[in-house]
Amino acid sequence: MATDNPVTHQLGEHTARSVQETAAIAVELLPLMLKSGVVSLEGPLGAGKTHFVKATALAMGITEDVTSPTFTLLQSYGSGENRLHHSDWYRLESEDEVLALGLEDYYHDGLVFIEWGDKFASILPPRTLRIRIEPRLEGTKEVRSFCWNVI
Ligand SMILES: Nc1ncnc2c1ncn2[C@@H]1O[C@H](COP(=O)(O)OP(=O)(O)O)[C@@H](O)[C@H]1O
Ligand SMILES: [Mg+2]
Repeated sequence: MATDNPVTHQLGEHTARSVQETAAIAVELLPLMLKSGVVSLEGPLGAGKTHFVKATALAMGITEDVTSPTFTLLQSYGSGENRLHHSDWYRLESEDEVLALGLEDYYHDGLVFIEWGDKFASILPPRTLRIRIEPRLEGTKEVRSFCWNVI
């Protein structure tokens, strides 16, 4: 019997052997990301979270230079219906600090990316798409494993 409870559904996984392959995964996931509206990017420093946001912005036709919002905490790009908001919770230490960002004003306005959303997973909105990126070495080559699900 199908249920509507918010259990985590594993949706898929992918491996990227180059930054170009990571960008291709962003293109492939774009319809799903737009449908969710909010994407939490998870994984260690240097995993490729910011690179993934840059690639998605390009796929959306956003030409502005997307940079890491580690210090600015929230940055917006694009215009009209093609808006992308990029937040990073790495430096935030409490749910109150996250709430002070006022992100909920952006949750229905284009696509919202949150790097390190797993730090405060309980306040991610329902239907957030969670994308986990894990770097690993294959011989001497850097490879990224991706898996994603919806909460
Ligand atoms: N397959 C890959 N996907 C994404 N980034 C990769 C990949 N292989 C190597 N890299 C490198 O790893 C780094 C990822 O940095 P960044 O996106 O800022 O990580 P994060 O935001 O997770 O800390 C970049 O320097 C990028 O060139
Ligand atoms: Mg980053």
